[in-house]
Amino acid sequence: MPVKLVCPRCRTTEGAAPLEAGEPQAGRAWTCPRCGARYPILHDIALLSRDAGALLEHDLEGWLGGGETAPESLDPGLGLALAWLGGERRRRSMGARVLAASAYGDGGAALRGWVRAMLAAHHAAGAGEGLDLGCGAGAAACELSVRLDRAWALDTSGTALRLGRAIACGETRWLDVPALGTVTRRARVDPVEGARPDRIVWLGADAHDPPIEGGAFDVVVALNLVDTVRDPWLVVQQAIAATRSGGLLLVACPFSWRDDLTEADRWLGDDARRSAEDGPAALEGLLAEAGALLDRRELDWSLSHDARATMLRRALALAVRVR
Ligand SMILES: C[S@@+](CC[C@H](N)C(=O)[O-])C[C@H]1O[C@@H](n2cnc3c(N)ncnc32)[C@H](O)[C@@H]1O
Repeated sequence: MPVKLVCPRCRTTEGAAPLEAGEPQAGRAWTCPRCGARYPILHDIALLSRDAGALLEHDLEGWLGGGETAPESLDPGLGLALAWLGGERRRRSMGARVLAASAYGDGGAALRGWVRAMLAAHHAAGAGEGLDLGCGAGAAACELSVRLDRAWALDTSGTALRLGRAIACGETRWLDVPALGTVTRRARVDPVEGARPDRIVWLGADAHDPPIEGGAFDVVVALNLVDTVRDPWLVVQQAIAATRSGGLLLVACPFSWRDDLTEADRWLGDDARRSAEDGPAALEGLLAEAGALLDRRELDWSLSHDARATMLRRALALAVRVR
């Protein structure tokens, strides 16, 4: 069954409302036939969120920068959101730096390799639909596109989605990536070999409230997402809910919490101060409730400061066959 998008506004009260069929087009909006909600399409990427203003605020430059945004694509609701934002325009885009460092930086290779290995071991090649939640620069979505019919790449950041799309199309980019503290360095981001951009759908949306029918995906991936969201427990539940019965769920988390992203009382584990120690068991417990554990490993995730210094974190990577 092909995956169906649903209207983020009315599905909770009136059930799934498929959006109008058709490919996204620049300058157009998608309208829900049931409740009439309109969702903008910016840079050819549909922004399917109940709270488009929040997504824009999260990454104003990424969604509206670049001079490609047709003003007519912004509906009145968004216009209001923008007017509000105009007063306190902070341009606090996560930017490309964190994303690229995560997906393609020195340590990202281990996670990508793990995704590839898990797909090879636990998913028959050539069929199915995959979802990369919090896709960042899209490395996992590219891996999904190699082996599946279609990959959906979902993120709140326009910067990430546009960057991912460029890389998936074979472009090489140079980016400032974080090293240590506030120090950045230039890094080269290469395309993923064999990526199929024609199979990837880039979607602006919130992983707390993904605009997709539940239980539809054969493979769901959430890498280094859980410790960057407002409500980690909810995002894990959404990842589980998106996976079909018998499907493969891949979650990796370095437990690198930031209290400006996730309030401490939501960090996984009984005690926020010890989340690095007991967070992994909490995450494993949540996933164990959803299905059978296929693989568990600790993957080093390193960021080079310079030629002689590296910061090392360890991500817990869990593969689950969802019940
Ligand atoms: C540390 S990066 C990881 C990116 C990628 N998964 C990887 O491993 O390379 C976290 C990503 O999650 C995205 N993100 C944060 N909160 C999100 C949310 N609520 N919904 C969707 N994406 C989100 C960020 O924009 C960012 O691209």
